[in-house]
Amino acid sequence: MKTVVNNTLIHFVDIGISTAQPVVFIHGFPFNHKMWMFPGGQTEAIASTHRVVAYDVRGHGESEVGDALYTIEFFVDDLIGLMDHLNIRAAVLVGLSMGGYIALRAVERHPDRVRALVLSNTKAEADSNEGRVKRSAAIRAIRQNGPKVFAQTFVAGAFAPDTFNAKPDAVKAIQSTIERTAPAALCATLLALAARTDSTPGLPNIKVPTLILAGEHDAIATPADAELMRSKIPGAELSIIPHAAHLSNIENPEDYNKHLTAFLAKL
Ligand code: MLT
Repeated sequence: MKTVVNNTLIHFVDIGISTAQPVVFIHGFPFNHKMWMFPGGQTEAIASTHRVVAYDVRGHGESEVGDALYTIEFFVDDLIGLMDHLNIRAAVLVGLSMGGYIALRAVERHPDRVRALVLSNTKAEADSNEGRVKRSAAIRAIRQNGPKVFAQTFVAGAFAPDTFNAKPDAVKAIQSTIERTAPAALCATLLALAARTDSTPGLPNIKVPTLILAGEHDAIATPADAELMRSKIPGAELSIIPHAAHLSNIENPEDYNKHLTAFLAKL
C-alpha cells in the first residue's frame, strides 16, 4: 500500500491482527521493508500476535525519492506521519541500524508515540570526523561510478564470514537491493547519516521498555556500541546474536526472533 506523507509517496505493509499492539519495523540503510521478510523473517514471526507495519523510508524500496534532501529528522517526521495515517497512537518501534537512529530520535521527540523500543545493530553516537569523510568519499564514488561498487563494498563488510557460505541468496538479495536504490537517494541518505545528531545525552531519559540486539561480529555497530546504550537506558536489556554481523535479523533469524518475541510477550 502507499500513502502520501510529507509530500512524498511512502510504501508500507500493514498486516497481522489489526486490533493488537502495533509494531513498526524501520529498516537500515540502504535496504527496504523486505529485509524483515527473508526466510524465517520477523514480520511473519509476530503476525499472529501483533499488528505489523513495515515501510520503506523515503528514497528506498518503493517509496518515492522526493526532493532528495534528507535528514534523520525528516525521516522521523515521515514515521510519525505514517503512524498518523494508520491511526496508530503508540507503537513498538523495531529499528535496525539507520532504523535505530530514526527510532532513537523518534523517542526523544515524541516519547508518547513509542510503547517500547527494539534497537538492533545500531548506536547512539553521531559519526566521527573520519566517518563523515568516508561518507563523503562514498557519495563521490556513487556519483562517479553508480551504486555497484558501493554495494559490493557494503556487503563485504556487513555480513559475518559464515553468512557468505550459509546464506548466499540473502547476500545476493541485499547486494541487488542496494544496486537498485536510486543514486540520488543513496547520496542524500549518506548525507543525512553524516549530519545526524548524537543521541547519547537523551538515553537516560528513555522511559519505555527497551531491547538492544547486537550482532556478535558487527563491525558497523559493534557490541561495545550496544553495551554503551544498555548502560545508559534505564532497565534496557541487551542480547548478542551469535553467528551474525550487521544484518543479524537475516543472518540468524532464529535467535533474533527468540529475543524479539520474548520481549514483545512481556509488554
Ligand atoms: C545501516 O545499516 O543503516 C547503515 O550501515 C548505518 C550507517 O552506515 O551508519
